[in-house]
Amino acid sequence: MSTDFLSLLEGGTTPLYLAPQAGVSESPFRRLCRRFGADVVVSEFVSAAGIVMNTQRSRAYLRFSEEERPIGIQIFGADAGMMSEAAAFVAEAYGPDFIDINFGCPVKKVVKRNGGSGCLRDLDLVEKLIRAVDDATPLPTTVKIRSGFDEQSRDPVGIALRCQDAGAKALCLHARTRADMYTGHARWSEIRDVVESLDIPVIGNGDISSAEDAVRMRDETGCQAIMIARGSHGDPWIFAQARAALNGEPIPEDPGVEERFEICLEHARNAIAFESNQERAVTDFRKHLGWYTKGLPDGRLLRIELFQAKALEDVERLLEGYLAEHRGAVPV
Ligand SMILES: Cc1cc2nc3c(=O)[nH]c(=O)nc-3n(C[C@H](O)[C@H](O)[C@H](O)COP(=O)(O)O)c2cc1C
Repeated sequence: MSTDFLSLLEGGTTPLYLAPQAGVSESPFRRLCRRFGADVVVSEFVSAAGIVMNTQRSRAYLRFSEEERPIGIQIFGADAGMMSEAAAFVAEAYGPDFIDINFGCPVKKVVKRNGGSGCLRDLDLVEKLIRAVDDATPLPTTVKIRSGFDEQSRDPVGIALRCQDAGAKALCLHARTRADMYTGHARWSEIRDVVESLDIPVIGNGDISSAEDAVRMRDETGCQAIMIARGSHGDPWIFAQARAALNGEPIPEDPGVEERFEICLEHARNAIAFESNQERAVTDFRKHLGWYTKGLPDGRLLRIELFQAKALEDVERLLEGYLAEHRGAVPV
């Protein structure tokens, strides 16, 4: 059953979002982050054209389980008719809690077709797409934007106001331009300016890598919610830590290596069960293995072996072997 996620955003508790992340924020990771206290999750971006064509790939992206709610499905595209059709289909067939439109993706292939942050070059188009999606479904439409396409067009408040006028019910700002890609620092002052200019809830995003960062973002910007992407890599417990910090409670310690590996294996088991092809699932899981083992003594050697794993049993054996060999040398 869908939830009233908008009242969550308006409740003054600063909910924490797991960010939409292609190849990362898939159902198993979303479930894990929800368990660690992420309050809202968003699917990776799905092409409106792919949804309308009902491709196998988009069907795989759109799957989610009830325990993930509140969940948003994020769609992208530059054709209003296609976006409207895709939103109506997703709402009807999958019933997420909201539909999010991606106006932030900086990837060339997407931008070339005016999708993602490419739309930010044409704010009439942005408005048209939001109206098309919002009219097509009874679900709330939310948007995720960057601060502009490039430095010349940088105007987060102007863009955000256009989104609000077009019917967006909440807006997430990743305070970089498309030209910035992921370089430099997200300008949190722009999040504050947008918060002060909009009536709808604003979700702050960019460069949260610790619980303390989350508190600083809330205090410096007044944002109604906080979104975390890269800070969650191999670190889903960041949500529990950030929640404690936001509540003014002691921040739980990072888990020791043994617990970290247990979490990694739980994630791996779910990720492999979620896919039909085990070997491909293990290959796709390599990035997570890299993140969960970052910073460990002899971690590089362990990763070389993990990256050759073909099955879950290989991963289990390697992690067990590492623990047996390093007990005493690492905090467990
Ligand atoms: C691997 C990866 C994939 C991403 N995929 C998406 C996506 O599908 N949709 C989207 O709106 N943003 C996507 N992003 C951007 C993030 O949602 C977020 O805006 C950005 O990483 C900044 O937040 P952070 O500093 O917490 O990482 C992606 C980011 C990463 C690192």
